[in-house]
Amino acid sequence: MQQRLTSDNAPPAPPNVMIIFGAGGDLTRRKLVPALYHLSRGGLLPETFAVLGVDRLELDDVAFRDRMAEAVRNHVGAAWDQDVWERLCERIHYMRCNITERESYVALCERLTRIDAERGTDGNYLFYLAVPPALFGDITRLLGAVGLTTETPDDWRRVIIEKPFGDDLESARALNRLLHQNLDEEQIYRIDHYLGKETVQNIMVFRFANAFIEPLWNRQHIDHVQITVAESVGVEHRGEYYDKAGALRDMIPNHLLVLLGFLAMEPPNSFDSEAVRDEINKVLDALQPLTPEQVLTHAVRGQYGEGLMPSGEQVQAYRSSPGVAPNSRTETFAALKLSMDNWRWAGVPFYLRTGKRLNAQYTEVVIQFKRAPKIMFKDTDVDQLDPDMLVLRIQPNEGIQMSFGAKVPGPKMRVGTVNMDFCYADYFGNAPATGYETLIYDCMHGDATLFKHADTVEKGWEIVESVQDVWSALPARDFPNYAAGTWGPAAAGDLLRNDGRRWRRILTPGADSTS
Ligand code: BG6
Repeated sequence: MQQRLTSDNAPPAPPNVMIIFGAGGDLTRRKLVPALYHLSRGGLLPETFAVLGVDRLELDDVAFRDRMAEAVRNHVGAAWDQDVWERLCERIHYMRCNITERESYVALCERLTRIDAERGTDGNYLFYLAVPPALFGDITRLLGAVGLTTETPDDWRRVIIEKPFGDDLESARALNRLLHQNLDEEQIYRIDHYLGKETVQNIMVFRFANAFIEPLWNRQHIDHVQITVAESVGVEHRGEYYDKAGALRDMIPNHLLVLLGFLAMEPPNSFDSEAVRDEINKVLDALQPLTPEQVLTHAVRGQYGEGLMPSGEQVQAYRSSPGVAPNSRTETFAALKLSMDNWRWAGVPFYLRTGKRLNAQYTEVVIQFKRAPKIMFKDTDVDQLDPDMLVLRIQPNEGIQMSFGAKVPGPKMRVGTVNMDFCYADYFGNAPATGYETLIYDCMHGDATLFKHADTVEKGWEIVESVQDVWSALPARDFPNYAAGTWGPAAAGDLLRNDGRRWRRILTPGADSTS
């Protein structure tokens, strides 16, 4: 849910051409061109803008535009606006290209020069690499070889890439070295699509635009933090990739640590990208990698077997998914208990969990506050005071909920838990969006605040590597250890139960509330 970005509150992007490598692929169809449509609808693309799709397919401009029209129609449904589409459509071009051959890049240079002349795009190029990471090196090298990565005081050249940024610390470092051969760090925009979510960005606003929060946001008042990214979907058509990655590598060094970074950071001096990046890196520096002994008690892994989803659908086991080895030991669920060695968070556990084929599809952060002492109520019927909780609902049903104790009406003193609830949709509407709008727009403006820098990526890998090393050395023997449609392996519940805590119960309609 997002749409806040309109020309009412933001100026159009500067002149530029967005060149999409992998223009025939899924990402272009499902996210990138629909995002451009939304930007165009918001008046955020200048007249002096063009898109150049690049791929191996034999297509001309017209055929490519037709494909993109269909993709956008599928995405926006009834909200389709022919005028908005036409404004964008006439700026869309296509070029057949062999992305590993130098001649194609010479031709690309010529085509871009022509587009600049026709459209007034000023030689500013945003290269979006919507291709597998194995091609990042070839593409940036060949762009460099024909001078397309060279900036001048008047022309900018930027490259957007998406995760996975390597599959461990060593390969992430190698990828960064490769990219740096042809690009300065300032030209590289690494997307973590969680940073494009309004509710993730709102964590910073909630914390730093509201003075009442800050005095509570520390170890004096917070008992612990839970971060849950639960998915009811399985691995779908991505079995081959996923079976090599697993839940830990697929989700934790990127999406869950993004959430943790925003939750735990100190107030930056500004929203300037360097200032924000520095504070997030300090959080990652303070996170304590688990020792091998701690991995045995503070990290839980699971793999789903067949099961019944709350929707009534009977689903097959992970091991029966296409592209997955029949005896796979890859985890589809991971939970960690992490701690931070700094003044604000010493002694406050951060529990993280993520998994596929769980009982519900939602992402949320729970801040559980310390309990009030029961002194005032000691001579009453109140036998326990529940902890107060702040829940940041990232998706779906985006919003913020505060749970606290209130007197149950009646002659006896009883305390019940009640909720104060803010829903994004009630205040700001719910226009369709892909989550890529802000990111593409920011990149066009050269604002890297919501993108990951090389060192942030490497620090993320350092944290998960301590777990991955032990898990690889001791392959799981009990997989599958949770049924599809449940809350994951029993050990995930024990992770909190052993500390006298429990995961927040989600009351999504149809979801099982026990975890
Ligand atoms: C991707 C992971 O990065 O994020 C997927 O590779 C996962 O496995 C997806 O499903 C989750 O994103 P979202 O936006 O649906 O929470």
